[in-house]
Amino acid sequence: MAVKQNFFAEKREWSKLKDQILDHYLAPYLAKITTSGRPTRIADCFAGKGRFDDGQPGSPIIIAKHVDAMRARSPAPDVKAIFIEQKYAAELRANLAAASNCQVIEGDYEQFVLGFLSGRVDRDRNYFFYVDPYGIKSLNFSHFARLKAVGFQSLEILINLNTTGFLREGCRLLKLTRKIPEWADDLDFDTDGKNTPVRMDEVADGNYWQTILADFQTRTIDFHQAEEQFIAGYIERLGTHFKYVVNIPIKERSHHMPKYRLVFATDYHDGLFLMVNEMNAAWRKLLEQERGGQLYLFDATALEALGGLTIQEKVIAELRLPMNLRDLLICLIRKHGIAHTIGEYKAAIKEKEGSVFKLMRDPPKTPTGKPSHSMDYNKGKIIVNPIPPKWPKWPPKWPVLQP
Ligand SMILES: C[S@@+](CC[C@H](N)C(=O)[O-])C[C@H]1O[C@@H](n2cnc3c(N)ncnc32)[C@H](O)[C@@H]1O
Repeated sequence: MAVKQNFFAEKREWSKLKDQILDHYLAPYLAKITTSGRPTRIADCFAGKGRFDDGQPGSPIIIAKHVDAMRARSPAPDVKAIFIEQKYAAELRANLAAASNCQVIEGDYEQFVLGFLSGRVDRDRNYFFYVDPYGIKSLNFSHFARLKAVGFQSLEILINLNTTGFLREGCRLLKLTRKIPEWADDLDFDTDGKNTPVRMDEVADGNYWQTILADFQTRTIDFHQAEEQFIAGYIERLGTHFKYVVNIPIKERSHHMPKYRLVFATDYHDGLFLMVNEMNAAWRKLLEQERGGQLYLFDATALEALGGLTIQEKVIAELRLPMNLRDLLICLIRKHGIAHTIGEYKAAIKEKEGSVFKLMRDPPKTPTGKPSHSMDYNKGKIIVNPIPPKWPKWPPKWPVLQP
């Protein structure tokens, strides 16, 4: 099946969303990661033309802008970008003509990764991989695992995972007779016709997707549930290699089904917190757009259905024992994904400081000798303690009955 020819004709809503998250993430990421003093490399693995035909920037132009911004710093950190593109390398080179520290590699992503892994790898570097293919055929899971096993100074990966396309392809390969919803057809989904269940296992890192689709076939679950189970399985597997994995579903309003998932994997809580904030901002923005009648959005219901608890209630539920603020935030993200920003969690805790939460800070005072109210765990130790609710005294005082 040929891929949709006019992907680059016009930048559509879901491409804008991916790029917005990438764009907003890169500035704070680069500012932070370059303080390590190690060289930093951004690899855009399915780079595209660089610019859409309607003039909008694609991921390469966005990345090049951030590389340039870092070069303008004094002293300039060692930051470079690598763009891998099979079909549009010439256009990409032209679009990046004015960019510095950017290298275009014409060719196949898989060949590049395999060549990279078998060559002399400099581990003393930070790498950020942006993986944005049309479909799933090139997303061999073991490449991510092998990259991680190298032990770079740091490695972060942002993957556009077309979960719906994966399951649709799975149904076709397993010759399932249950019809999948019509909308699940994705014109951006590219397959070379050479897919096999074994190859799909390699993408998913296991055959759990076949069990999920068997349940779909027997009507134990619907397609929506199948997608949710599949992404849960995928994240669990990626989580065996990276400390933190978060994802954002991008859904089509009329069906409430993710068009795809952006999956982010990192070992660094700073990276996790930054990405959660960005994904949350993008989700809210699209929610607004949906209210304005646009087509694509994140589905609010899925995120709000996380128990219907307030943020404070979610914090209380997590806080059985005193906890370091940073670890508490990590636990909350593990449980509630991108539902809230770091700032929202901190504000909710601070609002009830003294009544619901007791905060112990080290140092307890500011440099000017005032009591510290800091919520910045990078500047000192902050332990959050639950304050048990006050129970009425027992036995209660009975009212004196008048004769
Ligand atoms: C979804 S587009 C990328 C869009 C890009 N991230 C952007 O924001 O502008 C996927 C790109 O991957 C390229 N591509 C497809 N298969 C590839 C492969 N095996 N290796 C490298 N590039 C490939 C396609 O030519 C296409 O330009």
